[in-house]
Amino acid sequence: MFRARCVLRALRSCSSAPCSRRKPSAKLSVRDVLRAQNTSGERVKVQGWIRSVRSQKEVMFLHVNDGSSLESLQVVADSSFDSRELVFGSSVEVQGQLVESPSKRQNVELKAEKIEVVGKCDAKTFPFKYKERHPLEYVRQYPHLRCRTNALGSILRVRSEATAAIHSFFKDNGFVHIHTPIITSNDCEGAGELFQVESSRKMKLSEENFFNVPAFLTVSGQLHLEVMSGAFTQVFTFGPTFRAENSQSRRHLAEFYMVEAEISFIESLQDIMQVMERLFKTATMMVLSNCPEDVELCHKFIAPGQKDRLEHMLKNSFLIMSYTEAVEILKQASENFTFTPEWGADLHTEHEKYLVKHCGNIPVFVINYPLVLKPFYMRDNEDSPQHTVAAVDLLVPGVGELFGGSLREERYHFLEQQLARSGLTEAYQWYLDLRRYGSVPHGGFGMGFERYLQCILGVDNIKDVIPFPRFTHSCLL
Ligand code: 4AD
Repeated sequence: MFRARCVLRALRSCSSAPCSRRKPSAKLSVRDVLRAQNTSGERVKVQGWIRSVRSQKEVMFLHVNDGSSLESLQVVADSSFDSRELVFGSSVEVQGQLVESPSKRQNVELKAEKIEVVGKCDAKTFPFKYKERHPLEYVRQYPHLRCRTNALGSILRVRSEATAAIHSFFKDNGFVHIHTPIITSNDCEGAGELFQVESSRKMKLSEENFFNVPAFLTVSGQLHLEVMSGAFTQVFTFGPTFRAENSQSRRHLAEFYMVEAEISFIESLQDIMQVMERLFKTATMMVLSNCPEDVELCHKFIAPGQKDRLEHMLKNSFLIMSYTEAVEILKQASENFTFTPEWGADLHTEHEKYLVKHCGNIPVFVINYPLVLKPFYMRDNEDSPQHTVAAVDLLVPGVGELFGGSLREERYHFLEQQLARSGLTEAYQWYLDLRRYGSVPHGGFGMGFERYLQCILGVDNIKDVIPFPRFTHSCLL
């Protein structure tokens, strides 16, 4: 509404120019032109790329798109324009007058007075063809050009809206945004999936390396958030994380974005699960209301049926089961799993997918995992004989694990024992300090942002929801 008012104001200020001079055209985005009301008769300038060309005897219809919306602006050009120049994929600047469109598909169209071809496109070699719907696997081969397709355009606009929605969820709920470092000297998850950072500059022989200690690309901002949760009761970070996982799977990347939150003075997993569920539902509702056309395109052409599946997730309360219950369910399943389910073993993707199906395709929190499976920082449940920690994973339809979180071990002596067991005592003295000086019960979680997008849009392959995917044997551009 605010944007529409601004657009009208921009147009009106141009219209107030003296009659003797030709009114200057207001430069507008396609989205603004299509959304503004009562603009017929106004003169505008639009810049973008030709998405379609339809020639009739006397006129030519061009659809010009500038990435601001899924819809393109229809430009009507009479026979005075050279049709050889106006080809699919070319970039153009169009000036003209907005007129009411006789077509039901749009309110206004642009009657061209001047069309400048800014950059011609060689349609013969351009990998995308007019009117063809290219599968995502095909467009993935062109990471430098695929943003020009409708599908990637929509996915990337949803990604942008989802980023804003997540930030606004945390802001509205009183969280402080912390920029956690990308280069770090710790391996938060202890899984040995680190990319080491080295300087290309030649160091003196006496120097070990650039930082004097081994440095890595972060696998998680959690430990830095934990530092902050000693002074701020609610913090979050949202940035790139890196894992040298040798995986070609549809849900793993070497570089992915993670949304992480840490909350102080909580005592149960319930508190964390509530924030996870609210984050998922609030951000998704915001995305659905801010870019419905883009979401609809994905639901219609990429993942038919996904609209209903998502509604089902949003309207139901997420379920909770313990790891022990999950293993029992898997053991009783008639499914032939590749990995035999047993207590003490990791849940694999096939298990996670089965569990979600078993829960009627409602997301399910699996809690209290075996201590031996989890990193040193998780809070000991002190149970026996099955020794578990207060960990939680949220499993969702189509994707499996979307969130991972836990209560953190805030008790000095328990943590000291865990660090000793993991051989980390020396390196984590600073972490013990956090428990030495004003320790509080706290916990948090991390959500894989690309998996979140896969889950709401129904996109099967994680490589299609990130602008430039990095994975084993591939780092294009
Ligand atoms: O379960 P993870 O490993 O949890 C952590 O890193 C915690 N330190 C987070 C925290 O508590 N602050 O990772 C969190 C999520 C996973 O549930 C998954 O969605 C995503 O990050 N993830 C990946 N996404 C894409 N590619 C990969 N290789 C991923 N590894 C994890």
